[in-house]
Amino acid sequence: MAPRTMAEKGSKTRNFYDRIADAQSVALRLNGYRASVARYLRSIDPEIGPESYVLDAGSGTGIVAEGFYAAGYRPKCTVTFDLSHRSLSVGKEHIRKNKKTRSASIGAVQGNILELPFADASFDLVLSCGVLEYVPLEDGLSELARVLKPGGKLVFIPVKPSFVGSVLEFLYKFKTYPLSKIRKEAVRHFKIAGEHEFKLTEAMGWSKIVFLLEKK
Ligand SMILES: C[S@@+](CC[C@H](N)C(=O)[O-])C[C@H]1O[C@@H](n2cnc3c(N)ncnc32)[C@H](O)[C@@H]1O
Repeated sequence: MAPRTMAEKGSKTRNFYDRIADAQSVALRLNGYRASVARYLRSIDPEIGPESYVLDAGSGTGIVAEGFYAAGYRPKCTVTFDLSHRSLSVGKEHIRKNKKTRSASIGAVQGNILELPFADASFDLVLSCGVLEYVPLEDGLSELARVLKPGGKLVFIPVKPSFVGSVLEFLYKFKTYPLSKIRKEAVRHFKIAGEHEFKLTEAMGWSKIVFLLEKK
């Protein structure tokens, strides 16, 4: 039976990712995902320094956070945040083993992206990859905007509408948003500072696109 409420949907999603976390983590670490994220993040200037706070919202097994450290950034603190407890635990193990992240201050918090347990304007940078597809886009963007400082950046990496996007949609049970809808919803809270297409020689190029958004 299809879930009727957001809470039921959230618990289905959490159970799904708790079940696949270990396999998902292996797949992501083999397909060059982290290197693609790192290359992109190196190409922008998110103005991150030793006093900065960073959130990976919907971090899953932490591959985007690892890509962020691989790009050379060293903030004061990073929070990985996800519905799936197992994904966060798998991510913690990788962060502990990775020489770029093991001595960094990186915490894990479990919860729903629509109700982030952080005060307004807590973060200098939010990274979010492949997550808002599980929630109403306007609600997700508005909650991410709430926790960002004015002028702070959101590196938003949604699933790209494409054939591969449709296959992932079916396998991972989410809803891809048209790029026109993303642009329309984003400008309610953000200035669009850039858009980036990964090369098709990168695995991420088949499924993801980047919007660099600056909180108004
Ligand atoms: C496709 S995975 C992406 C994970 C990671 N960002 C990456 O790029 O590998 C989607 C993640 O979103 C999480 N998620 C889905 N709905 C969520 C919600 N409402 N709040 C927090 N996390 C959620 C899932 O648990 C899962 O880890």
